[in-house]
Amino acid sequence: MARDILVTSALPYANGATHLGHMLEHIQTDIWVRFQKQRGHNCIAVCGDDAHGTPIMLKARDAGITPEELIAGVSAERQRDFADFHVVYDKYHSTHSDENRELSSAIYNKLKDAGHMTSRTIKQAFDPEQQMFLPDRFIRGECPKCGAPDQYGDACEACGATYQPTELGNPVSVLSGATPVERESEHYFFKLADFEAFLRDWTRSDHLQEAITRKLDEWFTAGLRDWDISRDAPYFGFKIPGTDDKYFYVWLDAPIGYMASFLNLCKQRQAQGEELDFDTFWKADSDAELYHFIGKDIVYFHALFWPAMLKGAGYRTPTAIHAHGFLTVNGEKMSKSRGTFIKARTWLKHLPAEFLRYYFTAKMSGKVEDLDLNLDDFRSRINSDLVGKYVNIASRCANFITKRFDGELAGTLDNPELFQRSAAAADEIAEHYEQRRFAQ
Ligand code: MSP
Ligand code: ZN
Repeated sequence: MARDILVTSALPYANGATHLGHMLEHIQTDIWVRFQKQRGHNCIAVCGDDAHGTPIMLKARDAGITPEELIAGVSAERQRDFADFHVVYDKYHSTHSDENRELSSAIYNKLKDAGHMTSRTIKQAFDPEQQMFLPDRFIRGECPKCGAPDQYGDACEACGATYQPTELGNPVSVLSGATPVERESEHYFFKLADFEAFLRDWTRSDHLQEAITRKLDEWFTAGLRDWDISRDAPYFGFKIPGTDDKYFYVWLDAPIGYMASFLNLCKQRQAQGEELDFDTFWKADSDAELYHFIGKDIVYFHALFWPAMLKGAGYRTPTAIHAHGFLTVNGEKMSKSRGTFIKARTWLKHLPAEFLRYYFTAKMSGKVEDLDLNLDDFRSRINSDLVGKYVNIASRCANFITKRFDGELAGTLDNPELFQRSAAAADEIAEHYEQRRFAQ
């Protein structure tokens, strides 16, 4: 029976170019989606750019353009990158869209009406020159633990300590160099703990990989805290309904962007006279399946906040979260200073997209493990597997079929048993695909 399957990849931030880490995710998703489509299922893949937040606002300001102009340019570039890597989405949308504004407001109002929102006044670092509150990453100073200079406001790269920006020695605003002051502001919070019983059950019922469930146990032990979902102006995002100067934190409307992309696709298909119904996929008792492909760094958002938001607002929850590890290059984290930060476009300038797709595929296990692009290994696998095996067999066969058999194939199989053995493996192969064990 044909299944209704909706698949998403994480929405890349609209302030930077596509890199090979992104491609690891999008190639994985694309292979899985192609497989489901080939099996005849009604499989739909959506994605889009994550367009909101302080870094995007500031990057546009630096470039002397509006955030809307910045995100339009990045989106166009991204879609070219994906197309050139043969990655296909049924819809590539943006979180800065009418659909997302409506859905985000509606979901917020439902959560609020159900009593899952609260507000209180908190103290935060404020840049007195720029007249804005500073996210942790925009404050630098001395690590409170080891004294290393010039560390971010949330964690030390020298000793690995994590802390509050108020604990930094001699803190400065990255934006102006001014010393941040503390200022009070009212913030809105999502009461995640309201969903503890639901989440404990949900996270243990086959929606997650085992390694993720174990990680979540640590988070449950640490306690589910209220989640701050508001930000003060100036902010590039959606205004919170019923307020003058409060905006949704980018992570509130980002996952709702999955729904918004799909809603936009539904409208487009309906305008073309085709049937595609939003509620069929998103209503609480939906029979459709919903899968999110994400990296391990954003599991907290997808395995806790997101199912809780959906549940609280009366929608269905994900069928499964498919988390993957990080791409490393020659065994190290991708790094601009080491020259191992490779943009998608840089790759395409030098090598075919298929080579990267093949290499990733040959190493993808469906586990939450990091995957290394080792350039020596890459060269030898392309040479021995692709050139030495596939291409070699095809070119030799083509040669003798043409020379000795007038370009004609036999009418019957020479070894039917061999064919039967391959055909009989279909279910097993399909199961490997289903579980994302592409290397197998
Ligand atoms: N905007 C958020 C996601 C919102 S989803 C509702 C975000 N964006 S991101 O651009 O930083 O990352 C997008 C995806 O790429 C994430 O799944 C992330 O884990 C993945 N990767 C980013 N760098 C990566 C590697 N080096 N390796 C593999 N995946 C990586 O997070
Ligand atoms: Zn330190």
